[in-house]
Amino acid sequence: AKGNSNSLFFFFLLSFVSLGFWFLQQGSFILFGFSGKIHGNWIDCIWPLWGNYKGHNVDIRPLCRAISKPRTQEYAGVFQNGLPVIKWKEIVDDDIEEEEALKVYESNKVKERVDTIKSMLGSMEDGEISSSAYDTAWVALVEDVSGSGAPQFPSSLEWIANNQLPDGSWGDRQIFMAHDRLINTLACVIALKTWGIHPDKCQKGVSFFKDNISKLENESEEHMPIGFEVAFPSLLEIARSLDIEVPYDSPVFIDIYAKRDLKLTRIPKEIMHNVPTTLLHSLEGMPDLDWEKLLKLQCIDGSFLFSPSSTAFALMQTKDENCLRYLMKTVQRFNGGVPNVYPVDLFEHIWTVDRLQRLGISRYFHPEIKECLDYVYRYWTEDGISWARNTRVYDIDDTAMGFRLLRLHGYEVSAGI
Ligand SMILES: *[C@@H]1O[C@H](CO)[C@@H](O)[C@H](O)[C@H]1NC(C)=O
Ligand SMILES: *[C@@H]1O[C@H](CO)[C@@H](O)[C@H](O)[C@H]1NC(C)=O
Repeated sequence: AKGNSNSLFFFFLLSFVSLGFWFLQQGSFILFGFSGKIHGNWIDCIWPLWGNYKGHNVDIRPLCRAISKPRTQEYAGVFQNGLPVIKWKEIVDDDIEEEEALKVYESNKVKERVDTIKSMLGSMEDGEISSSAYDTAWVALVEDVSGSGAPQFPSSLEWIANNQLPDGSWGDRQIFMAHDRLINTLACVIALKTWGIHPDKCQKGVSFFKDNISKLENESEEHMPIGFEVAFPSLLEIARSLDIEVPYDSPVFIDIYAKRDLKLTRIPKEIMHNVPTTLLHSLEGMPDLDWEKLLKLQCIDGSFLFSPSSTAFALMQTKDENCLRYLMKTVQRFNGGVPNVYPVDLFEHIWTVDRLQRLGISRYFHPEIKECLDYVYRYWTEDGISWARNTRVYDIDDTAMGFRLLRLHGYEVSAGI
């Protein structure tokens, strides 16, 4: 959400709206051509609606390719009295042959796809979402904790250098959404400028930003990533401190700043520092944080609610070893280009089952579905679940979907949840 692939966007979620809910929104946005921040990569082949969320790596088009011969052209040449004469016999023979071939072709194709999906289901592990330029930029900003003055995660910086889009932006490659592209681009420009590398790419990013900033004006608010109004102004402040030449007084900012101020006045800082909430996912750039208190709310994997950007900011501010451990693992796992949330295991196990059923193809995957639901049940608590195991921040979305699927499959879950 913040950076797509973004995720920033949890930032100041007033009503602890769940990550899952957000994911779901992203998924449905696709229907309207929305490009979200998070991109994953494996679920696309079974769930085209998620093309945006789960990845660009799988081309879904082959699924829709029809196999047919151009009838009209074939017979168009045969006329009698100016009217086309249709040779029924030939067409019928041809159809039977074609139908047989089609059947074999299709059953092979089905088997192929079923096998592919099975192998994906068997290798979900902690879940995988495609890289978020926004989160990667925050990770790239971290300075070597031992004080050499070099970047701590050079592979993230390299990912940024290698993933600029032809128009100079960063963000969703397939769908242009102004909010998504602008925040991802600003974050990446900041990372490159901070380390003084690739001035050409930096300049191209700045030009894109200048040329497209006005597009925010007319883009529907629904396409605004969660937390955008807080994260975007924070990035602008950083850009200003680095003398990056982007407009700071565009009329479209007035509205964004107003939205940010509204959220900030509503944030219960006291609660945020003492109780684990979804705000932990979006700490980056937030001023006046009490890290001593916040570190007590860290997840056992060392992350701040499984967010690379939030954890990167915490590491910069605290040099905390557990933050470092989490980021090293995540950066290595994704070769530098980190996703906006990791792990995301419960979310994937739940939604995979739901989508297979809704698509009407769950009959091919009974054992795999049972394994997924056993997994979800293992982490089920009387208070609910989150999008990943090992946190006490539960969300309504994953909990509701988990409840429905577990009940549907005969697991014992209390209605008192
Ligand atoms: C967005 O930015 C790119 C790169 O600067 C530019 O080519 C394009 O025309 C801009 N789009 C619009 C609508 O201004
Ligand atoms: C936004 O929409 C208004 C009204 O349709 C139009 O006048 C304006 O030019 C649009 N702005 C941009 C940047 O496209």
